[in-house]
Amino acid sequence: MSSLTNLIDLQNITKVYQSGMSEFHALKGISFQLMRGEMLALVGASGSGKSTMMNIMGFLDHCSTGNYIFAGENVSRLTDQELAITRNQKIGFVFQSFFLLPRLNALQNVMLPLFYREESPAVARTKAMTILKKVAMDKFIDHKPNQLSGGQQQRVAIARALVGDPDVIFADEPTGALDSKTGEEVMNLFLRLNQEEGRTIVIVTHDKEVSQQCQRVVTLKDGLIVCD
Ligand SMILES: Nc1ncnc2c1ncn2[C@@H]1O[C@H](COP(=O)(O)OP(=O)(O)OP(=O)(O)O)[C@@H](O)[C@H]1O
Ligand SMILES: [Mg+2]
Repeated sequence: MSSLTNLIDLQNITKVYQSGMSEFHALKGISFQLMRGEMLALVGASGSGKSTMMNIMGFLDHCSTGNYIFAGENVSRLTDQELAITRNQKIGFVFQSFFLLPRLNALQNVMLPLFYREESPAVARTKAMTILKKVAMDKFIDHKPNQLSGGQQQRVAIARALVGDPDVIFADEPTGALDSKTGEEVMNLFLRLNQEEGRTIVIVTHDKEVSQQCQRVVTLKDGLIVCD
C-alpha cells in the first residue's frame, strides 16, 4: 500500500517554447510535490499549462530551467534516450484518444510496453492477461480497437499503462471522449486502483465531476499554480 514518501518534487520549473522568433513561457516557475499514493486532479483553463506540466513530470519533455527530483534523484538533465528509458520503466500514460495501435488486438496492445523492456513473450502475455482481468477486459483480448467501445478502449489503455507496474499514472483528459456514464466507469476504475492498490494517479481534467472525486486538486493559471 501507499506510504507517504515523496515521489515527485518540482523545484521552480519553467518551460519556454520557441516558435520562430518568438518565445512562449508556458510554465513560469512551478514548485510542486507529489507523494506516493496520492490521487490528484490537475485543472485550469485551456492553455494554462496542464499538459506541459504533465509531459515534463512524465518524461515526455524537458523543462527549460529548474530542478526535477523523481524518487530522490535529480532527473532534470537526462538525455532524450535516458528520458525514454525512465518513461518506459516508471510511468504509465492514459490519453483522451486512447492511442491504441489499430492493427494490434487488446492483448497485444497491453503486452507492447513489456516488449520494449525485452520481457519474454510468455511473461508479457501472463502479465497482460492478469491486468486485463483487473480492468474486466479479459473477454475481449482478441478484439482490435475498432471492435471495442470507447470505454472498453480506455480500459485497455489503462491496462497498458498499468502492465509495467509504474510508479505513477498520468491521465490527460481520460474521460474527455466518453459519454458521462462510461466516463464514470473509467473514473471508478481509477479510484479503485488508488484506494485498493495505492496507485499514484494524476488526472488532467476539465470535468468537475472528475476533479471532485480526487483527494487533491491543483489549479494552474497562465503557467503558475494558483491553488493547491
Ligand atoms: N510545442 C509547443 N510550441 C509552442 N507553444 C506551445 C507548445 N505546446 C504548448 N504550447 C503553448 O503552451 C501553453 C500551454 O499549453 P498546454 O498544452 O500545456 O495547455 P493545457 O492547459 O494542457 O490546455 P488544454 O486544456 O487546452 O489541453 C499554450 O498556450 C500552448 O499554446
Ligand atoms: Mg492539455
